[in-house]
This record gives sequence, structure tokens and C-alpha cells, in this order.
Amino acid sequence: MKQTFKRLEMIARGLVPGKLKSAVRIARSAVITQPLSKEMSAELVDGAEIVASRGVLIERMKKGAIAAELGTYRGDFTRQMLARAEPEKLHVIDVDYTKFDSRLLDDPRVVKHEGLTHQVMATFEDGFFDWVYIDADHSYSGALRDAEASAPKVRPGGYLIFNDFAHIDPYLGRYGVHCAVVDFMEESRWPMRYLAMHPAALYDVALQKPSTGAAGKY
Ligand SMILES: C[S@@+](CC[C@H](N)C(=O)[O-])C[C@H]1O[C@@H](n2cnc3c(N)ncnc32)[C@H](O)[C@@H]1O
Repeated sequence: MKQTFKRLEMIARGLVPGKLKSAVRIARSAVITQPLSKEMSAELVDGAEIVASRGVLIERMKKGAIAAELGTYRGDFTRQMLARAEPEKLHVIDVDYTKFDSRLLDDPRVVKHEGLTHQVMATFEDGFFDWVYIDADHSYSGALRDAEASAPKVRPGGYLIFNDFAHIDPYLGRYGVHCAVVDFMEESRWPMRYLAMHPAALYDVALQKPSTGAAGKY
């Protein structure tokens, strides 16, 4: 039922003209206030590498990985991941494939899953993925839910990567991703390893799951 509502919501959003959508989001941003993130613990960011873009960041992932993209939309970044990260398998998960470039499915490395990201992630065994790229629901609760659903599924030493590590998108309004990532880091004690630049300051961030024995959740 929840999935049907989400799908209807996505279809309805697709029917609203882009400029109207942007105007509504920006108007909401002006009236809805949002808390800032907590200050991060120094040891969770010490030694993180800054890279020029998310494309460079995913090149830092080991080749031949088992990976997932949560929220694939048209598959634009899926294509880049296949070329630049060279995974053995890339599981793409989305609730709506109406805009997805289905030619990507000709690539035997791509495995398509239709459904809500946190529900699909729950079907994998723990430690299954080398890295997971989170780019689906950008609200605080949505980003945190995806992080919490994905964390056990990443192997020790693997990565959780978040797109749009930001409070605000200049065109689309408020995001909860920044607060969600900081809260996740503070609770899980997963350190930041890479921070990727972006022209609109919509950074990507990669957190590394500690090897066994480290303190923290997951
Ligand atoms: C920002 S787009 C993804 C863009 C893509 N990763 C890229 O970089 O080209 C977000 C996608 O997440 C999907 N989405 C949002 N919330 C979702 C959820 N809870 N479960 C599944 N898919 C979701 C939307 O349908 C949309 O296709």
C-alpha cells in the first residue's frame, strides 16, 4: 500500500511542470525552518580526502565490487558508476522506473530492483555489499532510514556514500541529508573518508564501515 502511494506521488510529481515544482519548493524553504546539524567529532573527519567530484570519488572504490545505487532515476549516474568504478555487480533500486534508460539493463552487471529502497535493502544478507550509494529520499527521515537499512548490509571496511550532503539545493529547496549523515556518523562512529566537491555545494560523502572490533552501532 505504502509503495503504491509512493508510486502515485512520483507520477503526480512528474506531471507538474518543472518551474512550478521549483517555485513551490523554494517557497516552502522560505517558510519552513530546519535545524542545523550537530558539530561533528574531530576524529570522525580527520584524514578525510577531498576529491573534485562524485565521479572521482567512485573511482576510489575497489574494482570488481558488489555495489548498490539507491535511487537511480534515469540511470545517468549508474552509467558513470559502471564505467568509472567497474563493479562486478551494480544493484539499482527505485520505486519508479518510468524515466530509466532501459538500455542499461543490457549490461549483465546491472540488477534491477523495483520497490522502496529500505525494504529492498532488507532482503540482502548482512555484509553483502562493498559499497552502497544513497540517493533516493532526501528528507531527514528518508536519508536516515536508508542509512540504517544499508549499514548492516555493507561489509567491514566497505562504504556508505551519500549524494547531496547538504541542507539546501538552490533549485529544489531543503534537504535533510546533511543532518541525517551527521547523526548517523555520530551514532555509528563510521568515519568520513572522502568528501566530493560539487558546483552547487551539493557534496557527496563516503563513510567507511570500521573493521570488526570498533565501537559503535552496526
Ligand atoms: C535524485 S534521483 C536519483 C538520481 C541518480 N542517483 C543520479 O545520480 O542520476 C532520486 C530517485 O530516488 C527515487 N526514490 C525516492 N525515494 C525513494 C524510496 N523511498 N524508495 C525507492 N526509490 C525512491 C525516485 O524515484 C528517483 O528516481
